[in-house]
Amino acid sequence: MTQHDPRTVYLRDYTPPAYLVEEVRLTFRLAPHATRVLSEIRFRPNPDATGREFFLHGEQLKLISAHVDGAPVTPELVEGGLRLDAPDAPFTFAAEVEIDPENNTALEGLYRSNGMYCTQCEAEGFRKITFYPDRPDVMAPFHVRIESDQPVLLSNGNPGASGEGFAEWHDPWPKPAYLFALVAGDLVAHSDSFTTMSGREVALNLWVREADIDKCAFGMEALKKSMKWDEEVYGREYDLDVFNIVAVDDFNMGAMENKGLNIFNSSAVLASPATATDADFERIEAIIAHEYFHNWTGNRVTCRDWFQLCLKEGLTVFRDQQFTGDMRSHAVKRIGDAMLLRSAQFREDNGPLAHPVRPESFVEINNFYTVTVYEKGAELVGMLRRLVGEEGYRKALDLYFERHDGQAVTIEDWLRAFEDATGRDLSQFARWYSQAGTPRVHVAEDWSDGRYTLTLRQETPPSPDQPEKQPVVIPVAVGLLNPNGDEVVPTQVLELTEAEQSFAFDGLLARPVPSILRGFSAPVILKQEQSDETRAFLLAHDTDPFNKWEAGRVLARTGLMAMVLDGDGPHAGYIDALGRGIADESLDPAFRAQLLALPGEDELAQAIFETGQAPDPTAIHEAREALRRAISARLDDVLIRLYEAHQVSGPYSPEAEDAGRRALTNAALSLLSLTEGGDRARAQFQAADNMTQQIAALGTLLTIGEGEAELKAFEDQWRHERLVMNKWFGLQVAAARPEAAADTAEALTRHPAFDWKNPNRFRAVFGALAGNAAGFHHPSGAGYRLLADWLLKLDPLNPQTTARMTQAFSTWRRYAPERQALIRAELERIAGTERLSRDTSEMVGRMLA
Ligand code: ARG
Ligand code: ZN
Repeated sequence: MTQHDPRTVYLRDYTPPAYLVEEVRLTFRLAPHATRVLSEIRFRPNPDATGREFFLHGEQLKLISAHVDGAPVTPELVEGGLRLDAPDAPFTFAAEVEIDPENNTALEGLYRSNGMYCTQCEAEGFRKITFYPDRPDVMAPFHVRIESDQPVLLSNGNPGASGEGFAEWHDPWPKPAYLFALVAGDLVAHSDSFTTMSGREVALNLWVREADIDKCAFGMEALKKSMKWDEEVYGREYDLDVFNIVAVDDFNMGAMENKGLNIFNSSAVLASPATATDADFERIEAIIAHEYFHNWTGNRVTCRDWFQLCLKEGLTVFRDQQFTGDMRSHAVKRIGDAMLLRSAQFREDNGPLAHPVRPESFVEINNFYTVTVYEKGAELVGMLRRLVGEEGYRKALDLYFERHDGQAVTIEDWLRAFEDATGRDLSQFARWYSQAGTPRVHVAEDWSDGRYTLTLRQETPPSPDQPEKQPVVIPVAVGLLNPNGDEVVPTQVLELTEAEQSFAFDGLLARPVPSILRGFSAPVILKQEQSDETRAFLLAHDTDPFNKWEAGRVLARTGLMAMVLDGDGPHAGYIDALGRGIADESLDPAFRAQLLALPGEDELAQAIFETGQAPDPTAIHEAREALRRAISARLDDVLIRLYEAHQVSGPYSPEAEDAGRRALTNAALSLLSLTEGGDRARAQFQAADNMTQQIAALGTLLTIGEGEAELKAFEDQWRHERLVMNKWFGLQVAAARPEAAADTAEALTRHPAFDWKNPNRFRAVFGALAGNAAGFHHPSGAGYRLLADWLLKLDPLNPQTTARMTQAFSTWRRYAPERQALIRAELERIAGTERLSRDTSEMVGRMLA
């Protein structure tokens, strides 16, 4: 367990830094294997500190020389940094170090990607660049000089002097080292500009390799929309003369919000209609917004320590969700977010990796950039907003920015801004930040003498290190419908604060049908006895779009569970209700596409485990396929009509309306092909003039065991586009039959284009393997073995990506003994490997604990 690991860091051990930094000057003399970094750091004693020990973080640095106020010193080099007897007064520390970007395969610190220099410092990468107090509560303005013959030289802030072989940058906004960035490469810019609300002109550049210049226009538009939105909705203006974004092929995460110089995984920014799908466009728009929004929520106001990560991530995810809702559809976005929360965050929250939104300890902080911190963190912000109302929320945010601009703060500071702005006591709400696990809310109903009573009972199961749970504040949005389908009580928010509480509704003429947890108003699991007829009724009549969709989802899930557990056949009642839903032309096509999406196999495994039984991934897969075939057979007329009536004509546009139609027609295509065969998909593949249509057709063909020629044609067409080839790799594994999934993945690792050191390519194959539930969990154990082999191969080079991907094994305790034994053996094999990274050893340790 993490608790016994001597490397564990605890929230309760926080102490303020002994010294603060007034100003930093850095000079980089770039060279692939021997980059020199010269630093000049002005320190002053921190009046709030408890000690005077001078310690600077530093890892994998060769110290060339060090000076204090110009006099040479010999620091004591210790594990993780250096120590020095420092004056109890302001002084300047200078150092020269040498680093090796070319051999930096961890992609953390300063590294090279396709010959270009770039950085990733969050969370603790700056210490691989030079000696520094690498902690977010030390903020300083930076001056940077880059010396290199690379044509484009970038760092944070505003440009200063530049000339042959050098460029200088100055960032006036005090920032922690994790927001430092540097880029040097042979890049070209897609440029534009933005005039801020106070009339300042900001130069915008999206820097890419020349071959990618045709994939920038969409990202640039998304950036301008984000800048405008943050002004209009949050009153937040951009604060530098330039905003640069750089696309990088080798990147561990999606993107990084470095001040004035965002660095993006190329998959999270580059898009053209021919190479990117509708889903890619939507994701890119959201990530551009997310990183831009960090300029205020993260950069101007940052985190005191890494335990407070959700302070910037939960809030910024919430903001990007609002933005996407405003740009597209709130209902469709909410459903998508709820699907992600349930499939990924509930999975995490109900297994060995469960941790609070604000964790209390970690061994490797990179392991805590999780769906819990990000997505559940965003849900907490959403609940706060629901509880204090839209106006209260805006007042609280204004106060938070006003009070804490330029500071590194905590969740307590965040909640205090809400309390002070709205007068509301949030002490019980704060439990959401410290308590792990997904609350269950049980519903009981009573109807007598015209009074309808809802009794809600909450309970949160134990999680690692937290055997006992306290009741939390749960906003439960409820509406009531009459038996004829009219709404009699419009949405109101019940605040469940006790372990059990009743809420009464009077003056009703007939027993109502409740619609509970509208808009998915809290990240909880609702436990409600409901007949299939009631669910079909809500699917037809609920005025809340989320619960309308949810009613169909619950019907699908309970029907599938009955197929798996009781040997039932597909439920005709569900299929007919679904048929009416998707044929309803008053509903948005994107919403209807979501109605057609069945619960995923892992989500079903989770639901079966929740009933106390061990899920069988093979049986789940077969049931889900049987239901898909039954839908195809019974609704083929509706599906053909939908497919034909909603085709998009004219030039491709990634806008929500056209994307929604394609989502619907492609969902229909995939189902239709199960009974019709592949002709329709082959025709679509031939005719496609955009990636959405092309790849949907190819995926459909592969799923029914056809499409060999198309797969080859696709490869021939796209072999020079790395991002498209990631799809080609991933799709084959995702679409493979359960018994063939591991072999398919293994064969692809021998493909000449399988560049396993590139995280996107590695994830394309092995992320798809882990996502093919029945294939990964095939009883042969081949999937487990193959993944473990490759994780062990990657770990010495790239611990971060390896550790993240070990999560594929995290559900092992759900399964029956034979599968458990197979997975456990792989986890133990990994755990027992010599020189395993700190990242990966923490993850497997937690999973085995
Ligand atoms: N702050 C970045 C983002 O959300 C993510 C950086 C994560 N980096 C890491 N090494 N864990 O937008
Ligand atoms: Zn973020």
